[in-house]
Amino acid sequence: MATVSLQNIDKFYGRVQVLQDINVEIDDGDFAVILGPSGCGKSTLLRVIAGLEEHQRGDISIGGAVMNATPAAERGVGMLFQSYALFPHLSVSKNISFGMRMRGESKAVIKERVANAARILKLEPYLDRLPKNLSGGQRQRVAIGRSIVREPKVFLFDEPLSNLDAELRVEMRLELAKLHDSLAATMIYVTHDQIEAMTLGTKIIVMHLGKVQQVGTPLEVYYQPANRFVAGFIGSPRMQFLHGTVQGVTAESVRVSVPGVAPGIIEVPCEPDGLKAGDQIEIGIRPEDLHYRGSEEVRITGLTTVVEYMGHASYWYGHIAQQDRELVAHLHRALRVDRGSEATFTLNRADLYLFDTEGRARRRLQVDNENLQTQLAAAIA
Ligand SMILES: Nc1ncnc2c1ncn2[C@@H]1O[C@H](COP(=O)(O)OP(=O)(O)OP(=O)(O)O)[C@@H](O)[C@H]1O
Ligand SMILES: [Mg+2]
Repeated sequence: MATVSLQNIDKFYGRVQVLQDINVEIDDGDFAVILGPSGCGKSTLLRVIAGLEEHQRGDISIGGAVMNATPAAERGVGMLFQSYALFPHLSVSKNISFGMRMRGESKAVIKERVANAARILKLEPYLDRLPKNLSGGQRQRVAIGRSIVREPKVFLFDEPLSNLDAELRVEMRLELAKLHDSLAATMIYVTHDQIEAMTLGTKIIVMHLGKVQQVGTPLEVYYQPANRFVAGFIGSPRMQFLHGTVQGVTAESVRVSVPGVAPGIIEVPCEPDGLKAGDQIEIGIRPEDLHYRGSEEVRITGLTTVVEYMGHASYWYGHIAQQDRELVAHLHRALRVDRGSEATFTLNRADLYLFDTEGRARRRLQVDNENLQTQLAAAIA
């Protein structure tokens, strides 16, 4: 298996730059997830790594060898697309072995590799079936089987689950996690689904507008977002933002006023990083950090627009008049509040995120323990 190193990658389509100075190190055995909204350049980056697209600047190394001029077939990558067209007239076994037969591999090698792939993917009972007699998930596994038999150094997946229904996606997500464990392979996986990214990734590469916004573990990108884009993109429901003004700084805190939020001056523990009185800032609040009428020091009152009861949780949606902005609270119990009535939520100062007008995070919450992992699981459930 192999490392993948991307250094200063630029890619243009004509005069339009779609990848800008991409720098990412993917370790041997990583499950690296490229995450970002539609059109941000995820597929392009994957295709550049695969050698299916040329890039104009920078170096791509796989397993320590520079691959810029190496044809796709010789890069040692196995690629799986969203549309994984199987040959309808060929059995599962023949579909899996198609590439090997074209390359003239020996019968013995073909037999052994197909058997191995079928065992890993639990396709043994279906080897003689035609694709039309398989479920969506089984077909997906056949497509993965075609990659496995090539014994690639790196697996590249481009939204492989997006054609499946919701239930099957969850099932296949687990299958992929297991596959990654059993092959101990380096995998690079493209998705715009942040839950897939959080649950599968050992490393998440968040992209926006052709640029890498942050590279980190799921916990890091969740609790230490580098900027407002990452903060707002990861999490469901998303982080909320309210505007405020810096009133003063000390060596270890920034004192801010946030209209609609009490107390009038909130002392946020952090290094001020050049912020000064009068600077405009945005504070970020995760919906699950808000507690209905709790005892924490920071209080926000809003006018209830809707409450959704989910059984195990409720989502409160409201309007903060002083900000003319919406707020969402994720509560781990049923909440009875009438539409149009006021509701007060509290939160801990330590749970506030701070961003400057350029969107840079000015304060990063510490990621330190397993407790966070549990909270995270609850937050994205
Ligand atoms: N062959 C092409 N010629 C010109 N522009 C292209 C070409 N392919 C992609 N683009 C543009 O490059 C940008 C990145 O496209 P890309 O397919 O990498 O996005 P993506 O992040 O994979 O999006 P999605 O989630 O919708 O698949 C987009 O603005 C797209 O319109
Ligand atoms: Mg794409």
